[in-house]
Amino acid sequence: MIPVTGVYVLNGPNLNLLGTRRPEVYGTMTLPDVEELCREEATRLGLDLIFHQSNHEGRLIDWIHEAGARVKAGEVIGAVFNPGAYTHTSIALHDAIEGTELPVVEVHISNVHRRESFRHHSYISPVARGTIVGLGTDGYRLAIDALHRMSLT
Ligand code: DQA
Repeated sequence: MIPVTGVYVLNGPNLNLLGTRRPEVYGTMTLPDVEELCREEATRLGLDLIFHQSNHEGRLIDWIHEAGARVKAGEVIGAVFNPGAYTHTSIALHDAIEGTELPVVEVHISNVHRRESFRHHSYISPVARGTIVGLGTDGYRLAIDALHRMSLT
């Protein structure tokens, strides 16, 4: 059997704009900076990092299917997922996570509950193992750590 060694970090639409998009809300770290902090955390835990961003819902669904199959094959432990605005709209992403039984920790950099009411509902939370909201980009690090702890139980 192949040892479990990987963790996915998936990012949805507009997260490629991190660093320049509303820095008062999302901070000044860029997406490559976030990838670097995720890589540091994964490496610390002995995990390989598979890091992706897409502005396209179908691409995110394909990665969820891939990650779900790789969890079932014992190759990865799950996915940290910041679905961006698809959080509030996408039944298809909800169904992809539910259908693959992929262990997901949902992350939002901003505290969506302090923002517009349309950001208060998540289609992802009911199928996520947990959520980390409003702790900035540090939430990614915490989510990797949480998935790792879950994988040990
Ligand atoms: C976000 C919150 C969403 O409401 C928003 O559409 C984003 C980013 C966050 O990380 O805080 O694109 O997911």
